[in-house]
Amino acid sequence: MSETTPNDFVVVANRLPVDLETSSDGGPPVWRRSPGGLVTALEPVLRSTDGAWVGWPGTADVDLAPFTEDGLTLHPVPLSEDEVTEYYEGFSNATLWPLYHDAVVAPTFHRRWWSVYERVNRRFAEATARAAAPGATVWVHDYQLQLVPAMLRDLRPDLTIGFFLHIPFPPPELFLQLPWRKEVIGGLLGADLVGFHLPGGAENFLYLARRLFDLPAQPRGTAGGGFIDLGDRRVRVGAYPISIDSGQLRSHSEEAAIRLRAKQIRSELGDPETVLLGVDRLDYTKGINVRLEALRELLTDGTLDPEKVVMVQLATPSRERLSAYAQLRDDVEREVGRINGEFGELGRPVVHYLHRPVDRDELVAMYTGADVMLVTPLRDGMNLVAKEYVACHGDGSGSLVLSEFAGAAAELRRARLVNPHDLEDVKRAVVEAVNEDPASASRRMKSLHTQVMTHDVDRWAHSFLGDLTEQGRA
Ligand code: ADP
Ligand code: F6P
Repeated sequence: MSETTPNDFVVVANRLPVDLETSSDGGPPVWRRSPGGLVTALEPVLRSTDGAWVGWPGTADVDLAPFTEDGLTLHPVPLSEDEVTEYYEGFSNATLWPLYHDAVVAPTFHRRWWSVYERVNRRFAEATARAAAPGATVWVHDYQLQLVPAMLRDLRPDLTIGFFLHIPFPPPELFLQLPWRKEVIGGLLGADLVGFHLPGGAENFLYLARRLFDLPAQPRGTAGGGFIDLGDRRVRVGAYPISIDSGQLRSHSEEAAIRLRAKQIRSELGDPETVLLGVDRLDYTKGINVRLEALRELLTDGTLDPEKVVMVQLATPSRERLSAYAQLRDDVEREVGRINGEFGELGRPVVHYLHRPVDRDELVAMYTGADVMLVTPLRDGMNLVAKEYVACHGDGSGSLVLSEFAGAAAELRRARLVNPHDLEDVKRAVVEAVNEDPASASRRMKSLHTQVMTHDVDRWAHSFLGDLTEQGRA
């Protein structure tokens, strides 16, 4: 660890790439990789740019000076226990998260949560102002920090500020429910460039800025993007589909040790004909029960044979103190128990369910060894899991069943696309994936693989940062 100096490139996100975990047995706290796609995508970007990262260390009431850890410069922002409840669990994950994901769970609007969200956003803006060198580029991330761009611009007009949203940006009729809708759009307008995964998100934002602030907004003529004229400056808006470090993951999946482990896993599962795989944070947007219900019905009607098919579901614990997440866990675990109770045998469950994160080697071996990947969210900004699976199947093996409502579906058109609200459609796609002729399955997977290899996270970051630099100079 060492003291840090102001940086020319600063990433700001709710979480640092590592969480500080305190142990219940009184042992020393340890840093662990933080959950979620944002960290997966941004960590390689930050390593290659030598920047600094401003974020919460994942535990309440921890106040640490900036330090370097494993080559990354980290600026921790402390949150009190009440702020974790009201800013993180409350406004971020019980108001914005469901509202931005099609209100699949009803969002809660709470004035106190809003005022804590403002207060915490200000703290992040102040920490960033301290971390950034004169004229630096700052890249703010995700829905937890939508007020930071405007707050930071007030503090440091010399900075070039980009904002990227990692989750869907909702259609106006949903967004307009938010009592603080004008403040949120005003916060984002503090950026020089506001980026979304998909053109639809950029279009929604342009429309809302025009409507709520009566601003002239000009579409740019390319996918969903445009400019908003604020008089003294212009905000650029665009679509930038995020991705993964595809080359690194492909090489990792080709290592002999990973191939061997993939075979061992299949053998530990009883060498079934087909291994189905789900990998998610345990979140109600991910449609985990959709795929479990599809599997149960296919076993019940005899379309799938429990002696030939095994499913592995990995579910990283997430936001566990929120009731919608606790309810989801109960529902998923009941469904897993029901399937195993009806169709499993002693020592041979049909669904293997792990409620914990697994390490990277094990995850890559599971991707590599699985025949069918099930990605069935009701709504998802991108879904990196789908891209990770494809990156591990450069040999053309495997099959991807993918929800139309994941951002990844816009690029992975040759996956087996399904409507997760239509159980028959999901069942049909699973059966087709299980039974597909190998030559046609291989053509499909190779084309998906080419897409993921040529559109990696580096390209995403360059495209966003290139536009941001251009905008900063304008
Ligand atoms: P989100 O950001 O909503 O969690 P993504 O699919 O975009 O969803 O990203 C999830 C990331 O977390 C991926 O990089 C995936 O590999 C990782 N991940 C998800 N579940 C697990 C798990 N059980 N163990 C290890 N990593 C996981
Ligand atoms: O991209 C979605 C996201 O909310 C990220 O902001 C976050 O890093 C990840 O999912 C995990 O969620 P959380 O930080 O709430 O555990």
